[in-house]
Amino acid sequence: MTRDIPITDSRAVVATTPGMPATDGDGVKMTRVIGTQELNMLDPFLLLDAFESDQPRDYIGGFPSHPHRGFETVTYLLAGRMRHNDSAGNEGVIEPGGVQWMTAGKGIVHSEMPEQEDGLLMGFQLWVNLPAAAKMSEPAYQEFPPSETPLERRDNGTEIRVIAGTTSEGTTGVVKNELVRPTYLDVTLPAGQTFNQDVDATDNAFLFVVDGELKVGERRQVLGRRVLGILGEGSQISVTADAGPARFLLVSAQPINEPVARGGPFVMNTKEEIMQAFDDYKHNRF
Ligand code: CO
Repeated sequence: MTRDIPITDSRAVVATTPGMPATDGDGVKMTRVIGTQELNMLDPFLLLDAFESDQPRDYIGGFPSHPHRGFETVTYLLAGRMRHNDSAGNEGVIEPGGVQWMTAGKGIVHSEMPEQEDGLLMGFQLWVNLPAAAKMSEPAYQEFPPSETPLERRDNGTEIRVIAGTTSEGTTGVVKNELVRPTYLDVTLPAGQTFNQDVDATDNAFLFVVDGELKVGERRQVLGRRVLGILGEGSQISVTADAGPARFLLVSAQPINEPVARGGPFVMNTKEEIMQAFDDYKHNRF
């Protein structure tokens, strides 16, 4: 289905951030885009880290054994490979176009290590909050290799890797999440083409430009490479790649609207619950 009606309710960019350089794990260099002083969170998104380096010293240390409680981690790679291993006995390798959507729930201890000694490592880790009622749920995984992750190809050359949600042409992603009903699309747009996507009017949504430059909404606001744009109100998202081909992530979900207490790798509703998480981890109750 092609949309012929004019876009009259498309979301505008209400704020932008390039993020800031950060180091995490065993010296992994990255850009933290959500979870900074500038953009603490975009409910239910607690953190977004963007990795992009072909220098092994920037990533080779990886993320040795560490815990999580109270939210979900979503790892999506564009280049390179990461091996994960956890306290529940799961192990696997995340590859470009594949996704690992991990529900830490009441607690998991895992490691995430580059499965390569050189070359380009490029990708994202997104933290998605869990509502209070689900924070202490059993840990769970939704993990899909690239061969099982739908890739929609449109007549105009647009390619959309559908991690979660449903495109306007009806391709539905593999990840299921009824708690915040996320959409997570990786869109490659040829020069001059436009991409339209319906979005729930109550979702929080953002774009992150991986490559190229986008013009967003009716006002055709410019969003440059490696910049995140928070989208305002509306039930449609419309972007055009005027200046050449572009690639971007479109991510949205229902806000949870609950108090957020953070303590390193734990995200709960209260400070007491964070103290409890540290105590439980220290005493091997994960
Ligand atoms: Co982790």
